[in-house]
Parts: sequence; structure tokens; C-alpha cells
Amino acid sequence: MALEDLLEQNKSWARERLADDPEFFKRHTSGQQPRVLWIGCSDSRVPAEQILACGPGELFIHRNVANIVAYNDVSLTSVLQYALEYLKIEDIVVCGHTMCGGVIAACAEVLPDGCVADWLMITRWAKRWVDQRLATEKTKPDEATYLRMVVEENVKLQVDHLTHLAVVRKSNKTNPGIPRLHGWVYDIASGRVDVVVNPGDVRIDP
Ligand code: CO
Repeated sequence: MALEDLLEQNKSWARERLADDPEFFKRHTSGQQPRVLWIGCSDSRVPAEQILACGPGELFIHRNVANIVAYNDVSLTSVLQYALEYLKIEDIVVCGHTMCGGVIAACAEVLPDGCVADWLMITRWAKRWVDQRLATEKTKPDEATYLRMVVEENVKLQVDHLTHLAVVRKSNKTNPGIPRLHGWVYDIASGRVDVVVNPGDVRIDP
């Protein structure tokens, strides 16, 4: 597939920004002060900046399949450390989304082969917690409701993982209450974000 069109789109995007605001790019050359660290899914339908109507410089972003916070993910923990210790970001959002392919795969009887299956073993715990809760209930949810429940549980699980990570605990020790941890779910069908975890619901490990 030819990518010339994307390069053309980039040229016109840069031109339009400058036409609107001659200082637009110059403003960003001295550094960045993003308001939020966004941990989201790689899904192309969930572009953080667009859904929050943000521009360059506003969000510090880490994305992977199923917005997972893994203890041994050096990429994630480096982003986290940089966000907290250098950029002094005070809010972290873990954002899942409806119709998440990663969550759907984690819920399947048989996981797909390869790296993605290994990765999704983490999200499979969210499925287990939901199944455990549902085991005592008489009526079972329909498939869409069930997936939504696992998507939410997966967000809660990843926020919980953040509370145990060394860099988060260190920050909270020096600056109590910071970072504030948020769990959100983006609905692909409506474009709306729902809050599923508030900072007040979260206890960071000492
Ligand atoms: Co996804």
C-alpha cells in the first residue's frame, strides 16, 4: 500500500496548523508539560488525542494490546517513571474500550497462538474475576454485557497493578495522593467515556 497520501496529509496538516496559529509548532520546541499519562489500547478506533479533543503536548501516551499494565514491561515502566519523575504528571488514566479485540480474545475458550496469547494471559484474570462473580448469580448477562463487564474489570485490574509498582509507590510516598489513578472505558459505538475507577477508590501500596 502506498503511503504517499499520508505524507501529503501531513504536509497539509502542518500547513493548516501554521495558518491558524503561526506559533503552533514553535510553542512545542522548548519542551512538554502534558497533563495526563494515558495508558490505552492500541486499537485504531481509540485515538486518545482525538477522543479527548487534545492537541500535541497535552497527553503523554502508552498504548498496547488491551491496555495492560504488566509488572515486567520495561517499556511501560519507563514511560511511567519518565511521566512521574521528569514530567511531574499527577494523573494517570487507564482507558479500556468496548469491543476490544484483546478482551474478546482473552475471553475465548482457546487463546490465539503466539505472543498475543501470552500477553493476554494477564487480561484473562479479569475474565476469571467476572466469571467468579457471575457463578453465584441466577441470570447470565448477554454476550455484549458480559464483554463490557470484562472490559471494565480489565481496567480495574490494570489500575490495581499500577498501585503495586515501585515508581508509583515512591511518588505517593514523597507526594501523598500523587499520582491520582483513573480508570475509564471508551464506548466505540457512542464516542463517550465512562468513569469506572476514581482516584478515591484506589489505595496505593505503602
Ligand atoms: Co482494545
